[in-house]
Amino acid sequence: SIVLLAACSARDYPVDHEQLSEEERIVIRFSHVVGEETPKGLASRRFAKLVEERTDGFVEVQVFPNSFLYKDGEELDALLAGEVEMIAPATSKITSLVPEWQVMDLPFAFRTMEEVKEYIDGPAGEVLKKKLREQGISPLAFWDNGFKQMTNNERPLRNPEDFRDLQFRIMESDVLKEQFQLLGAEAKVETFDQVFSVLERQTLNAQENTFSNIVNRKVHHVQDYITVSNHGYLGYVVLMNDQFWKKLPDEVQIVILDALEEVTEWQRSLAEEVNREKYDYLSACQCIDIHELSDAERKQWEEALLPLYESFSERYGAIYIDYLPKNKR
Ligand code: LMR
Repeated sequence: SIVLLAACSARDYPVDHEQLSEEERIVIRFSHVVGEETPKGLASRRFAKLVEERTDGFVEVQVFPNSFLYKDGEELDALLAGEVEMIAPATSKITSLVPEWQVMDLPFAFRTMEEVKEYIDGPAGEVLKKKLREQGISPLAFWDNGFKQMTNNERPLRNPEDFRDLQFRIMESDVLKEQFQLLGAEAKVETFDQVFSVLERQTLNAQENTFSNIVNRKVHHVQDYITVSNHGYLGYVVLMNDQFWKKLPDEVQIVILDALEEVTEWQRSLAEEVNREKYDYLSACQCIDIHELSDAERKQWEEALLPLYESFSERYGAIYIDYLPKNKR
């Protein structure tokens, strides 16, 4: 059972696999909130498979998708408390712990996943990762989902004025909240597992997410309009409880890091593919009105949202902004 397996401590892991009994296996519980066919769902399963294969089954990665174990927010607390060993939350969801990570939420900060990767691997990204380590969690990898689009029930969103009277579901991040306030809308934090029901009950009438998450949560069944805006990036930090990580034998750490490197590389193009597929699906289903944001419209959104950069700099320092690709073009 989970309880029995979880009781095995990593410290007791002998080097010689042959000598291990069933009870001495290392179990890594990996909890996440999305479906199995999403970029994160597919990547976590592939990671589990590689680690199991490469340790001859002595390290078992149990993946729990769909908020089955923990919802947003709960999963980070559970990781800190050592109740789960691995999670891969969207960067917005770790901002209650390290608010500087909100830099990833800034609208129109990145144009491509390549730009995101460069930023995360660069000096500002290194400092962001260090801040997580200081909180007792090890960032081991960074996985993509993609760029967010806007959906709502009232009208096609073309200009900033079109956001009036809308109430958006957001992930927990002040930058996201302010983004919608600057556009004249309201925003309310809801966990991912609630997205469909708050929209269906019309408690809220709008949301932002990637094509993959929109289709995963059947948002297109309860929303009438989508604007393809690619305004914000959504990606994940793969996190492990630091105490657990440090107790793992070197050889296990190496297998894990190696598997993560391979999966990270693999999942980048997969994420793009999944989102393209879901976009094609929405284009063909005739179930939602699609508006592609024009360059002129995008300029208006960018202008309306510019104050976010200033308020971010004031709060957390201009240095995070200086390294954004946007400022290097
Ligand atoms: C969301 O809550 O909208 C996303 O963070 C879900 C996810 O993990 O992709």
